[in-house]
Amino acid sequence: MKEKILKLLLETKGHLSGEAISLELGISRTAVWKHIKKLKEEGYDISSVRNKGYMMTQETTELVEDRVRSHMLPSTRFKTVKILESVGSTNDEGKRLLSSKEVDEGVLIAKEQVSGKGRRGRNWASPKDKGIFMSMMLRPDIEPIHASMLTLLAGLAVVKGIDKVCQIQAQIKWPNDVVVNGRKVCGILTEMSAEMDYIHYVVVGIGINVNQDEFPEELSEIATSLKLETGQMMNRPELIGEIIEAFENLYNQFIREKDLSFVIDAYNSRCINVGKALRVIGRNTEEEGVGLEVTKEGTLKIRDNNGNEKFIHSGEVSVRGLYGYV
Ligand code: BTN
Repeated sequence: MKEKILKLLLETKGHLSGEAISLELGISRTAVWKHIKKLKEEGYDISSVRNKGYMMTQETTELVEDRVRSHMLPSTRFKTVKILESVGSTNDEGKRLLSSKEVDEGVLIAKEQVSGKGRRGRNWASPKDKGIFMSMMLRPDIEPIHASMLTLLAGLAVVKGIDKVCQIQAQIKWPNDVVVNGRKVCGILTEMSAEMDYIHYVVVGIGINVNQDEFPEELSEIATSLKLETGQMMNRPELIGEIIEAFENLYNQFIREKDLSFVIDAYNSRCINVGKALRVIGRNTEEEGVGLEVTKEGTLKIRDNNGNEKFIHSGEVSVRGLYGYV
């Protein structure tokens, strides 16, 4: 009976009332209470809230390879799925494995990173067991100029994974961020080794704030976690597996079709830049305009404040209303 209650709690997003459990399992509410007490004594972190019921508040699913694989495609192209206790950066380790030819294509996941990297030389805070820190190691048969499209596919895969596992609507801030309720939950850092016309390999690094309860003062307006947005601990192996599956489906089609036509409507419908006032900061330039769409080549089409349409290939794009930009 105790196991049945545990299963119900694990399957339920949010609180489950004692009455609902007693009806479902045909036992008295006192019996439910006694079993819950036992589970708590065994170490399960179950909160009881008056008038709401019980809720599993701790992530009980450990980050292990089998749990991740159980959510991936059976025919996955990623033969290697490695979980690391601790690493400097999964991107750096991924590049090392690819350049030494120790792996073909695969995924590296770390429980913590001690020197996690963000874009443009920034740090990426990667506290133990709080987030997802992973890198997909790829050898795509595409032109180097198309590699940046892999970042967009990864962003869409993260959004799809979050939809499925967390049941909240995340959006993509072109090209590298995933945002929930105006704050960043995920950043993507894509690195590659290539000649002018040939890619040796690409590493797509994904960092997701999952179970953080708080952020430092200076980040609190900018960053959030899935737990803060849903009020629940999230199952990281499930989310990782769903993201990899979504990415693989997109990646396989992209490798065949070589552009983003097949997915661009879905991308634009989740892209927060579209229809918004924005500021584009280039190496030596800064201009303002409005986001129109992301194209099948992965560029951001904007109309600048002089009415000219332009295509942005890269750079920092601030979207008005996001991350404190007013
Ligand atoms: C950004 O928004 O600046 C990009 C952040 C990317 C962080 C991820 S965490 C996994 C992978 N390993 C790293 O060192 N960085 C990426």
